[in-house]
Order: sequence, then C-alpha cells, then structure tokens
Amino acid sequence: MVVALDEDKVVALLNRILEQELAGVVRYTHYSFLVFGFGRIPIVAWLREQATESLMHAQQAGEMITHLGAYPSLTIGPLLDSHQTDIGTILRESLESEGQALALYKELLALVENRSVMLEEYARQMIHAEEMHAGEVDKMLRRPGEVAAFRPGAGPG
Ligand SMILES: [Fe+2]
Repeated sequence: MVVALDEDKVVALLNRILEQELAGVVRYTHYSFLVFGFGRIPIVAWLREQATESLMHAQQAGEMITHLGAYPSLTIGPLLDSHQTDIGTILRESLESEGQALALYKELLALVENRSVMLEEYARQMIHAEEMHAGEVDKMLRRPGEVAAFRPGAGPG
C-alpha cells in the first residue's frame, strides 16, 4: 500500500527548516565577531565553519522546496541577542538552537517515512549531521577529564 505524501505539510516544515538554518548562519556569524582571548583563532574558525554549514543546510532545504514545486520562504527564524560573549554561553545557546533544528528534521522524517525515499533519505542524513554536530558541541561543553555527557541521558540535541 502506498501512503500519500502530505506535500503541503512537508513544504511548511521545510520552510521552517530553511528559516531555522538561515537564522543559524546569522547567529554563528554574529558570535564569531565576539570571541576574544587566547582561544580566539580556532574558535572563530569553528564558528565560521558552522555558519557555512548552516548555509549549506538552508540551501539544501530550499532546493527540496523548489523540487516540490513550492515557494521558498524569505523569512528568517527567531534570533535572540543575549549579549553574551562567554564561550560557554555561546555554545549552550548554539546547542539549544541546533536542538530545535534537529527536532524539525525528526518531525520531517516522521512525515515522509515510507512515503518518499528521497525525502526520507534527506531527513535521515540531516538528523545524522545535526546529531553529530550536537555531540561535538556537547564535548566542547565538558570540562577536561570529564567523560559524562553535558546533557546526560537526553542524548545530544
Ligand atoms: Fe543545520
């Protein structure tokens, strides 16, 4: 039995993903300006890499939207300027927003599973990428010598 794909719902979700990823581009770029101290060079480079990755994710979401013959959003997801320049706070905020993106990709997977191989593969790849990313941030938030996850039990994201 072929289960029909609810394209309107899929497009709405893809647009939310696009907006969330675009917000990530702005957020990481903004944070990258605010890193001072000895660790500046590698941390700025890492934040800029994350901005580029968010842009790639936004572009992938936009391409999926037009693949489905729909119109991509020109809106950007919510951004909060907490005026924090502490690296730990920046990383915790990043983990929070990445968690929101991950939740959207999981919602997408539930919507497309067994309905579209292409969209299912896409959603799974993105969940893989976002979970790996959240895991990396989690490791950065641990104190040296601490093996336990920053978010114990909850799993990354
Ligand atoms: Fe992403």
